[in-house]
Amino acid sequence: ILAFCCNWCSYAGADFAGVSRLPYPVNVRIIKYMCSGRVNHQLILHAFEKGAGMVLISGCRPPGDCHYISGNIRCEQRMRAIKNIIAKRGIHPDRLRLEWISATEGVIFQRIVTEMNERLKELENENE
Ligand code: FES
Repeated sequence: ILAFCCNWCSYAGADFAGVSRLPYPVNVRIIKYMCSGRVNHQLILHAFEKGAGMVLISGCRPPGDCHYISGNIRCEQRMRAIKNIIAKRGIHPDRLRLEWISATEGVIFQRIVTEMNERLKELENENE
């Protein structure tokens, strides 16, 4: 599970999960990036091509928490198109998830990645 977490909210939320010692799946790899608005379909396709089972895009809560004003809104608008693109490549759309996680929401980060891990197991079982 590759988790792109924006620098200002989601990465801090993931960090908060860690310092709070909240257990979450060990197969989560976190990449800190500046804003969910930076995500594009090439980046997500590259992650899947390199073997990611699931990709999480997470950022600051809309509408007003994004530190770049509207990056999270643009990300949300882009996500539907990206799901269509990955579906055309034979990648189940459930493998891509967009979530908003603020800096104090370690519990939410934990819940989301745990749900993703469960869904990953289901998808792998469906493919067997
Ligand atoms: Fe977090 Fe834009 S800075 S989504």
